[in-house]
Amino acid sequence: MCGIVGYIGPRNVKDVVVGGLAKLEYRGYDSAGVAALADGNIRIVKAVGRLSNLEEKLAEMPISGHIAIGHTRWATHGKPSDENAHPHQDCSGRFAIVHNGIVENYLSLREELMALGHEFRSETDTEVVAHLIEEMYNGDLFETMIAVGKRIRGAYALVVMAKDHPDEIVAVRRASPMIIGLGEKENFVASDIPAILEYTRDIYVMEDGEMAVLRRDGVECFTMDGEPVKKDVYHVTWDAVSAERGGYPHFMLKEIHEQPRAVRDTLRGRVSDDLSRVELPELGLQDEDIQAIDRIHIVACGTSWHAGLVGKAAIEAFARIPVNVEIASEYRYSDPIVTDRTLVIAITQSGETADTLAAMREMKKRGVRVVAITNVVGSSAAREADSTIITWAGPEIAVASTKAYTTQLVALYLLAVRFGLSRGTLAEEKAREVLAALDDLPQVVEQVLDTAPQIESFAKRYKDAHDTFFIGRGIDYAVSLEGALKLKEISYIHAEAYAAGELKHGTLALITDGVPVIALAMQPELYEKTLSNIVEVKARGAFVLGLTWVGNEDLEKTVDEVIYLPKTMPLLAPVAAVIPLQLLAYYAAVARGNDVDKPRNLAKSVTVE
Ligand code: AGP
Repeated sequence: MCGIVGYIGPRNVKDVVVGGLAKLEYRGYDSAGVAALADGNIRIVKAVGRLSNLEEKLAEMPISGHIAIGHTRWATHGKPSDENAHPHQDCSGRFAIVHNGIVENYLSLREELMALGHEFRSETDTEVVAHLIEEMYNGDLFETMIAVGKRIRGAYALVVMAKDHPDEIVAVRRASPMIIGLGEKENFVASDIPAILEYTRDIYVMEDGEMAVLRRDGVECFTMDGEPVKKDVYHVTWDAVSAERGGYPHFMLKEIHEQPRAVRDTLRGRVSDDLSRVELPELGLQDEDIQAIDRIHIVACGTSWHAGLVGKAAIEAFARIPVNVEIASEYRYSDPIVTDRTLVIAITQSGETADTLAAMREMKKRGVRVVAITNVVGSSAAREADSTIITWAGPEIAVASTKAYTTQLVALYLLAVRFGLSRGTLAEEKAREVLAALDDLPQVVEQVLDTAPQIESFAKRYKDAHDTFFIGRGIDYAVSLEGALKLKEISYIHAEAYAAGELKHGTLALITDGVPVIALAMQPELYEKTLSNIVEVKARGAFVLGLTWVGNEDLEKTVDEVIYLPKTMPLLAPVAAVIPLQLLAYYAAVARGNDVDKPRNLAKSVTVE
């Protein structure tokens, strides 16, 4: 998830483009760059790190002209560096492009273009497109982009400018967001509204599979086959601050609602079209390597540790490899028993959590293979692991982790299926069933978000609760732990999660009249047992909010309130079940007037032990 800005018009292009990127830095901030066309030449200035580094460079190497494009990066392919920063060019330097998204077939295109003599300067998927434009150019930039669009696969918002076309910018949208800002004798293109709000409030929202040609005196829109498209002008009423949050009052709520996209992007290009195989080339493990593994240690902290618990259930179910889920700060001092057949999986959203990094380094010192699951390309974890699986959640700004958690689950499910197929412990037919259910998850998550109003009303009624208990059995217990952490860390309500069957061994003493209990009953095989534990807390006067699958009305007879969630494969249910718990924490924190995105005493990335 990067930020793109393009401009054609009379204003100072540096102010418009770099100013716009500053409003999009929440989309990515590991490197940035601009390209401007003046006097028949394209000048490119780019810098690794925050936008301020680029501004320093621009002070020494100013840009001018009336047409420019810019980019602030959230690395996907290729670590954050000057070379990998956008814009990218072709061999001749006649074209410059910026891109947000993923070109899935970039490797095969790159080989093809290299065979034709093209030389690459970066590791990015994006640069491939610049060379493809050069290779397919027929003198008409628009037509060339139609042809290029037919060769590249994936999610992309692309903006291109060309030396020989000083009066136009061409923009292409497939899956990644793009808007056009409409001005008087000037026009803008950007990934999101905040970038252009200072100049105009009239925009076109580009739909999937649409292109636009921007000129000073107007914007024309087309399908990706070149058919003209009539666009409605949308008038933006948001103020600049809420625009960065996409109109949401907090980044946390925005990130909760981004989960369908985040899950879809994390699945993208990793499941074969016929839903029979998992493709994780970045894992760097062959079948025989996977068959040799006799134990897995998942190492993480906080929410990532909770994701590890779900990963354990999936890997043990599909691959029959025993999995320990270890708290990193304990693990590194516990002298763990590892052999050359142990695999360590380190899960970390930020990729910079000191405890997790220290555990990784300890294992690497012992010659144990370490795979990282992280959300930040180029992070320490990604750089130091033997191989890395990136979760495509995009930047997570709110301290409370939400979309990173669900994408970590997706990465772990993919890993579990890959391991199961390699070891022959997962039947192909079962694998297809799991991959089909994974493929449906974005829609399932979309539907779960519709429960928000019901959760909000519950949160408002229980915002003053002193204690809250979350219970569940099996994988529901793992999700309960995450629900309790979310509530604690942003609403400051004391919350505990318990394996439902464990309550009667002590904690039941804390259940008194009106104490809210959130009961997860998402596992059909454990439903009866879970129900009997719910009856236990009801008998002590608890107010029970039950979460279960659509159609399981039986639960209504026992609990006070039910949240029905779309049915999915029980092992995948955590992706659905955690969302009402994220929303509960969010609405309780809002109702208590807390700083939701920056809760007290916490930091987004804990870089100290
Ligand atoms: C979760 O909402 C918290 N921000 C925290 O528990 C977090 O999960 C933990 O610090 C681990 O962070 P990481 O995933 O970046 O390593």
